[in-house]
Amino acid sequence: TTNRDKFRPLYHHTPLYGWMNDANGLVYKDGEYHLYFQHNPYGSMWGNMHWGHSVSKDLVHWEHLDPAIARDTLGHIFSGSAIVDKNNSAGYGENTIIAFYTSHRNVPGGQSQVQSMAYSTDNGRTYTKYEQNPVLTPFDGLQNFRDPKVFWYEPEQKWIMIVSADKNMRFYSSANLKQWEYMSEFGEGFGPQPNQFECPDFIQLPVDGDRSKMKWVMIVNINPGFVYGGSGTMYFVGDFDGHRFVCDTKPEVVKWLDWGKDHYATVCFSNTDSRIIAVPWMSNWQYANYTPIQQFRSANALPRELSLYTGEDKQLYLSAAPVKETENLRKDSKKLDDFTVNGEKRFETLFENNDGAFELELQLTSAGKEAGFELLNSLGEKVRIYLDAAEGRVVMDRAESGIVDFGKKVKPHDLDTEESYARYKEVTVNYKNDFALGTWAPINTAKGHKVQVFVDNGSVELFVDGGRIAMTNLVFPNEPYNSLRFYSEGGEMKISDFTIYKLGL
Ligand code: FRU
Repeated sequence: TTNRDKFRPLYHHTPLYGWMNDANGLVYKDGEYHLYFQHNPYGSMWGNMHWGHSVSKDLVHWEHLDPAIARDTLGHIFSGSAIVDKNNSAGYGENTIIAFYTSHRNVPGGQSQVQSMAYSTDNGRTYTKYEQNPVLTPFDGLQNFRDPKVFWYEPEQKWIMIVSADKNMRFYSSANLKQWEYMSEFGEGFGPQPNQFECPDFIQLPVDGDRSKMKWVMIVNINPGFVYGGSGTMYFVGDFDGHRFVCDTKPEVVKWLDWGKDHYATVCFSNTDSRIIAVPWMSNWQYANYTPIQQFRSANALPRELSLYTGEDKQLYLSAAPVKETENLRKDSKKLDDFTVNGEKRFETLFENNDGAFELELQLTSAGKEAGFELLNSLGEKVRIYLDAAEGRVVMDRAESGIVDFGKKVKPHDLDTEESYARYKEVTVNYKNDFALGTWAPINTAKGHKVQVFVDNGSVELFVDGGRIAMTNLVFPNEPYNSLRFYSEGGEMKISDFTIYKLGL
């Protein structure tokens, strides 16, 4: 109904034209959320990395601005962070926005990754690069040394920078944001091995909302190494003394921020006081460059508010709830009567003129073996979301969600693994095995759960119990899902507090 590319989401942020990956330099200032992002302004595949730029007053309506930081002779402008320099530590004036990013270039025999800085005196619209860039180079010549996260450490009145360094995160400190001193590193042996750490974030949160009990959380994006393949976001909870991070749990304990396949490079806004708001890139490096889209590629998943809670096993976990501003997207709503299902129950035609953007909110209690619902279109394409009592899990299955078998013709220069070299004979690599699947998260199926599902043209995001489980998956249905089929096998399922919202900008 609207004039947009077939798989362009209605309410998720996308670049107007060209490629996008990681969210960068997320910073809030003077009522504006700045979303910078890894951007190729010249085409819809990775390359020519700039920081693209959009701003929002409410995290859901975005205004597209010109790219803020362009590629230069030091190389691509890779991922990083931005801060508001409240005390004028760097000397460009109080409250200047300062961005830190990785300058990446290929050099004979490998690559060079160093940290650079740029400042903005016009509220983040344009940046001036520091004339003595880079501000930080690896002391050991490490080739994977990137994605600087800078934050203010109040107790010692100093700036800290965390840089992903192969399979570690390195901590540095600075008084003036220009000279950085090494302090410590974290990560050796932590998480699925051996995988590249990328895009760190480091946040402090109260335990169960009690501000007298604060914990630090290290967000580590890894590629590959995710449970369902490719890239994913894990986190570690622990303590920080201004110099060193010590994780509460053993290295083998991995906690995932999102259980879907399309949640990566997730980092948080700076300067938002006690609110911690994360923005994911909604894709997976396995197939991000080859999704069946043309004019642009990739969207951000909905911004999520993070909090720490004590789980049933007494461990600390992050919940990632859609920010409350997503309620600004609700247009029409339909409140449905409570019902029970033993077998199936269908709701046809959710909306006349459905453009694929809606939200479901409901309470689901199941005594069955398998119980849940399907989002369906008239072509029989579907996404199934269900509780599986035998395995104690909640599943989102996109195996028959629409286009699932896209691929690419392999040319020698995009062969990235030895395996693909071995296969090289003018073949087409097909991503069906990576895409046509279900993802799942452990859950107590004996309890009732609050379920929220955000559907947009191209994605399904599931939030259970206010974000205790988040699961984000791309889908490419050939027409919008416009009906629902609830089903329960081996027992009764009860649905209550059920509202369907049509979403729009
Ligand atoms: C993560 C990442 C970063 C890097 C950027 C390059 O997705 O690989 O480590 O800075 O993308 O675009």
